[in-house]
Amino acid sequence: MALQKLITLDQFIIEKEKDFPYSKGELSSLLRNIGVAARVVNWEVRKAGLAGLLGAVGTENIQGEQQQKLDVYANEQFISALSACGDVCVIASEENDECIPVINEQSKNAKYVVCIDPLDGSGNIDVNASIGTIFSIYRRVSLSGPGRLEDCLQKGTEQVAAGYVIYGSSTMLVYTTGKGVNGFTLDPAIGAFCLSHPDMKMPQDGAIYSINEGNYIKFPEGVKKYIKYCQENDPATNRPFSSRYIGSMVADLHRNLLRGGVFMYPETAKTPNGKLRLLYECNPFAFIIEQAGGKASTGKSRIMEIVPTDLHQRTPIIIGSTMMVDKIEEFIREAE
Ligand code: AHG
Ligand code: MN
Ligand code: MN
Repeated sequence: MALQKLITLDQFIIEKEKDFPYSKGELSSLLRNIGVAARVVNWEVRKAGLAGLLGAVGTENIQGEQQQKLDVYANEQFISALSACGDVCVIASEENDECIPVINEQSKNAKYVVCIDPLDGSGNIDVNASIGTIFSIYRRVSLSGPGRLEDCLQKGTEQVAAGYVIYGSSTMLVYTTGKGVNGFTLDPAIGAFCLSHPDMKMPQDGAIYSINEGNYIKFPEGVKKYIKYCQENDPATNRPFSSRYIGSMVADLHRNLLRGGVFMYPETAKTPNGKLRLLYECNPFAFIIEQAGGKASTGKSRIMEIVPTDLHQRTPIIIGSTMMVDKIEEFIREAE
């Protein structure tokens, strides 16, 4: 049998430090700590039905969404891991109204800022469908002490790293530091994330469209026309396309990253900024998808160029295979 070298996430991160000649290893250490917290959360996700971890807690977050028990648990795990690691000065989380400055001795010179959606797709927890975690890392802009709001409100182009964890039929961690995208599958036997998807590239074109089509009537004209285009019969362009939508951004985008496709959460007249949050959903995915060769747009302009003004601000998003995103932008332009 041919010997296969197993590369764990921790080995890979250390190996990649040499891509950054002046690195002092803090980003590596932070990424490794996120990997540890992800394994802890994974453990709870895997036994949620047995451990009384299904269902809502009875509280709402700032966006008026019901918090699930696992939302709260995952949030606590990531915040405590990020606060204790000594490399993070402030955290912005979907589950906390304000940003959380990290105030302790080991973090007083911390350089990094983390924006996180601790549990994405939490409406899917109780029905045993895939859920995830999304994170984004910036360098601080404030000079010292605990981090502040201004550290969190940076453009997506300033991200130094971003990633997601998918708790699916297997658990994977996928991340980028701006030099391509790599994916690691958790081997439950050894409890380590191992490199399984090196240098991930998104197909330039695809035949999957992912959107909550129940909202069709509310979509902008250009998006409606694109959906009709997807449904037309044209074997030369692989149409009709397949419609695939789980309702977990992580799961929908992970599939489309591997297979080729486009994911859309557009604005409607009632929700002019769409639903998904810029700092901890759209920007990290925009960075990952662009690094894999895809494209992330509001429908009119690049997601990562938006200047944030609010921790929980939303943006419409059209993200995925470059040729598909280009096509939708064209439909949107033409409908105006
Ligand atoms: P979260 O569970 O973190 O609040 O995110 C849910 C998001 C996202 O994962 C998904 O793509 C979208 O909400 C689904 O929204 P609809 O149910 O409106 O389609
Ligand atoms: Mn989410
Ligand atoms: Mn969430």
